[in-house]
Amino acid sequence: MIEVRGLTKTFTSGVFRKRTVRAVTDVSFSIPRGKTLGLAGDSGCGKSTIARMLLKLTEPDSGEILLDGDTITHLTDKQFKPYRRKIQIVFQHPESSLDPSKQILYSLREPMIIHGLYTKEERLTKIQELLHLVGVSEKLLTRYPHQISGGEAQRIMIARALTLTPEILILDEPTSMLDVSIQAHIMTLLRDLQGRLGLTYLFISHDVDVLTWFCDEIAVMSQGKIVESGPASEIVQHPQDAYTKRLIDSFQNW
Ligand SMILES: Nc1ncnc2c1ncn2[C@@H]1O[C@H](COP(=O)(O)OP(=O)(O)O)[C@@H](O)[C@H]1O
Ligand SMILES: [Mg+2]
Repeated sequence: MIEVRGLTKTFTSGVFRKRTVRAVTDVSFSIPRGKTLGLAGDSGCGKSTIARMLLKLTEPDSGEILLDGDTITHLTDKQFKPYRRKIQIVFQHPESSLDPSKQILYSLREPMIIHGLYTKEERLTKIQELLHLVGVSEKLLTRYPHQISGGEAQRIMIARALTLTPEILILDEPTSMLDVSIQAHIMTLLRDLQGRLGLTYLFISHDVDVLTWFCDEIAVMSQGKIVESGPASEIVQHPQDAYTKRLIDSFQNW
């Protein structure tokens, strides 16, 4: 179970005149084990900043992050290490997460080596199992990132996230760069993996249709704040907030 309470993050940017961006303001939610929370909202509303704070890539200004009841907010890197394995992320751009100069095998092996997990043979067995699980051929292991398709790259990134046996996966618009036909395959794979492995998902997307199909609950964000949240079907069928209504309408008019 992952829980956040009152997460807040402000950025200061600008070269000539300092500008303050309130990226995330007082965001709270919790996701029970094995469930999916969808985070919806337009580009720039603060979704990825929340993801980065959960991974401790960005420090929140205030608020708390709890994993199975333990606060991880102010841990040092060393103290955080045993928790780091538990939360993994799949990004929007699989290509930019893979080292272009290294074979796929390297990218899959690297997280396990960094965490000092398994023997060399065990790592290979784990990689074989995961490739099978995400539905790509072992032949891809000796290829370079530019020699595989976008869909294959995203399957590889999902396998990579699973090498550390995480409990929680953050999926930050994982299909938005893929062709529509491939999107459906990846979403079906993610759902299948959740059932098999009991994973907890934070699924970030602006696609209301996908969110409704995929999520147990949806939280709608606008300008850094959650404006509405609840069971997915309830939010879509009976939106209360004006922003949520606009978001849903913009999809139905397509
Ligand atoms: N490192 C940063 N420095 C300055 N501003 C940032 C930084 N990261 C994000 N922002 C700003 O914070 C806001 C939220 O960004 P982000 O979380 O990436 O939104 P989303 O993922 O919903 O598109 C945006 O206005 C963005 O420009
Ligand atoms: Mg984003």
